[in-house]
Amino acid sequence: MKTTRTRRDFINTTAMAGAGLGLGIGKTLAATSSPVTPSANQVPKRGIPSWPTFDQREDQALLEVLHSGNWGRTRGHKVEDFERAYAQMTGAKHCVATSAGTTALLTAFGALGVGPGDEVILPVYTFVATFNAITAGYALPVFVDTDPETFQIDAKKIPAAITRSTKVILPVHIGGSPADLDAIGSLSKARGIHVIEDACQAWVAQWRGRGVGNTSLAGCFSFQASKNLTAGEGGAIVTNDEEFADKCFNFQNQGGGRRATGSGRGANLRLTEFQGGLLLAQMTRLEEQSRIREQNAAYLTKLLGEISGIKPARWHDGCTRNAYHLYMFRYQKEHFANLPRAKFLQALSQEGIPASGGYTPLNASPHVRSLAKNPCYQKVYGKETMSQWEERNQCPVNDQLCTEAVWFTQPVLLTVRPEMDRIAETIRKVQKRAPEFTKA
Ligand SMILES: Cc1ncc(COP(=O)(O)O)c(C=O)c1O
Repeated sequence: MKTTRTRRDFINTTAMAGAGLGLGIGKTLAATSSPVTPSANQVPKRGIPSWPTFDQREDQALLEVLHSGNWGRTRGHKVEDFERAYAQMTGAKHCVATSAGTTALLTAFGALGVGPGDEVILPVYTFVATFNAITAGYALPVFVDTDPETFQIDAKKIPAAITRSTKVILPVHIGGSPADLDAIGSLSKARGIHVIEDACQAWVAQWRGRGVGNTSLAGCFSFQASKNLTAGEGGAIVTNDEEFADKCFNFQNQGGGRRATGSGRGANLRLTEFQGGLLLAQMTRLEEQSRIREQNAAYLTKLLGEISGIKPARWHDGCTRNAYHLYMFRYQKEHFANLPRAKFLQALSQEGIPASGGYTPLNASPHVRSLAKNPCYQKVYGKETMSQWEERNQCPVNDQLCTEAVWFTQPVLLTVRPEMDRIAETIRKVQKRAPEFTKA
């Protein structure tokens, strides 16, 4: 049985370099990394930096909130300041902060009135939180297969997944690269279906020069610990629809606070003032860090594109900025003497290049599959619909992609250019010695 891998699993996998695949061309990760010390915010001279980065800006922000005694947003102004700054950065008219990316999605669904009987279309190549945000309100998730070139939802396959019950299309900008928002926007208009973007990995990403979240009803972001903009946890919704923003505000604030028709639903999903302060401090270096990632990623793509059997993820034509939460490529083992991907990852890891195989098929995870037997779902949708649901969710292209994908997480790009040369050189050396590694 395949299982969905958590962030912790990825870390375990990449850290568990086995014996016998050392290339001997570098030192181990521990030796080559030069962790950024808490007080530093410059890129390291070599190696992969630790994450997050912080300095006296964060110290000051946290101490200011601490000493103000205004620790929650009901009394302070840091969260509101952050909402204004984040709306401005993304180009949206409104921003509502939430306690997490998952709760940003929950809030957007709550504000839109998505609930039992509604279907939500999502890509199968995503983090489990996308699915959980849908099922928290008893809507039915409907998976769509992946475009292997871009790793994003295959927009051509969305029409076949639409039914009379489809309420929302939820594209995910996986890795920070926007899904095909032109195709999804056209479908939305033609079929009268709302689009909410899961932009939890896509803070600075742009589609035809506009920040993600601006071409649809809303975009939802995450500021969880691994993210390029982080407060440990946190989230936000951006939208250009004032009434929708008010509804989102009320939903994350126990149902009230702003002018908007109530729905009888809501919760405390508020961001704290400490997180608001931290995010404002983190935002002061987001642009510079994003540029470093973009430059390194562009250079790495050029280098890796020259290696047979390595296929960097392509951008959709409308993508004008990639937030690079992940650097993703396909590893085709036929070009590496059939060296299994796990051994390829191991070889990189032993040379101080942390890499993972990314997501396993979400539709095959025990957590997701158990929805078919969930008594509440059987009550709302009927036993027959739920027993056919798994069949409806087959995604064969994604199954294949999940066997080939390789990820570098964002800190790998937040370093100096020679590190990109080192990555490409290491992959070339693995390729050269693949016949011997395959036998090992
Ligand atoms: C694609 C995607 N959606 C949703 C989430 C949920 O965000 P959070 O962890 O802040 O709840 C994440 C976070 O990892 C994500 O990567």
